[in-house]
Amino acid sequence: MTDHVTISDGRNGVRLVVIDRPQKKNALTGAMYDAMRVALEEADASAAIRAVVFAGQPGMFSAGNDLSDFLAQPERGFSDKPALRFIRQLARTETPLVAAVDGVAVGIGATLTLHCDLVYASPVARLRMPFVELGLVPEAASSYLLPLRVGRLKATELLLLSETLDADAAHALGLVNAVMPADMLLDHALAQAARLAALPQGALAASRRLIRGDRDRVEAALEAEAKAFDAQLQSPESRERLQAFLSRAKPASAL
Ligand code: COA
Repeated sequence: MTDHVTISDGRNGVRLVVIDRPQKKNALTGAMYDAMRVALEEADASAAIRAVVFAGQPGMFSAGNDLSDFLAQPERGFSDKPALRFIRQLARTETPLVAAVDGVAVGIGATLTLHCDLVYASPVARLRMPFVELGLVPEAASSYLLPLRVGRLKATELLLLSETLDADAAHALGLVNAVMPADMLLDHALAQAARLAALPQGALAASRRLIRGDRDRVEAALEAEAKAFDAQLQSPESRERLQAFLSRAKPASAL
C-alpha cells in the first residue's frame, strides 16, 4: 500500500478507496495505481468485500495520471506501466464500483467513472479528458465507452476538444446518477454501495454482467488505446505539451 491511497473496509461489505495526494491534486503515480489495482483484486477475491467506493479529497477527485511519469522513460510507454494494469483490472472487476466525485476529475480521474456502476457528484465536480490536447489519446476504453454512453458527437467534444463537463451537464448526459451537496456525497455513495453489497450476490453478479455488456469489446478498446498511447508518448508533440504543463510555459487547462 502507499501513503497516497487509503483503503478501509466497513463491516457492511463496502471497501472505501480514497485517493489522497492533495499536494499534487491527487495525480496518480505508479505506486498509487498499484495500490488501487490490488484493492480491486482483493475485493474480487474476498467474499466479505461486496462493493468498492472510490473517493478523492474535498474539492479534488483526481488530476489524472502524474504527468511527470509520462515524461519519464517514454520508451517504456504506457503498456508496461501500472496505469494499464490498473485499467485492465478496473474493466474486469466483478465487485460493484461506486464513485463519489467532488471537484475536478481529469484524465483517468474521469474515465475511471465510466467503469463504475453508480456515480455521484458534488456541485463543483468537473469532468475533463484532455488527452488530445496533451498530444495523447483516450485511455481506459473511453474511446469505446464514452460514445456508447453519450453518442459520438458529444464524445467528440469531450475527447477531441477536451471540453469540460460540469456536474449538471454530466448528470444530464447520464454520466452521473445524482448531484448532491459535498457534505452528503460520500455518505450517500457509501449508503448506495451498502445497498448493492446487501443484494443476493449471484443475482447481482449475473445482472451486472448483463448490464455491462460485451467485456471483450471493452478489453479490445483499452488494449488498442494503449498501443496508440505508447506511440504518442514518444512523439515530440506530446513531450512539448507535457513539458509545457509541468514548467507552466503555458496554462494546461481552462478549468
Ligand atoms: N501530474 C503531475 N502533477 C500535477 C498534476 C498531474 N496530472 N496535476 C496537478 N499537478 C501538480 C502541479 O504541477 C502542482 O505542483 P507544484 O505545486 O509542485 O507546482 C500542483 O499539483 C498543484 O497544481 P495546480 O495546477 O497549481 O492546481 P490548480 O488548482 O490550479 O489546477 C488542475 C488543478 C487539476 C486543474 C491542474 O493542475 C491540471 O490541469 N492538471 C493537469 C491535469 C491533466 O492534464 N491530467 C492528465 C490528463 S491525461
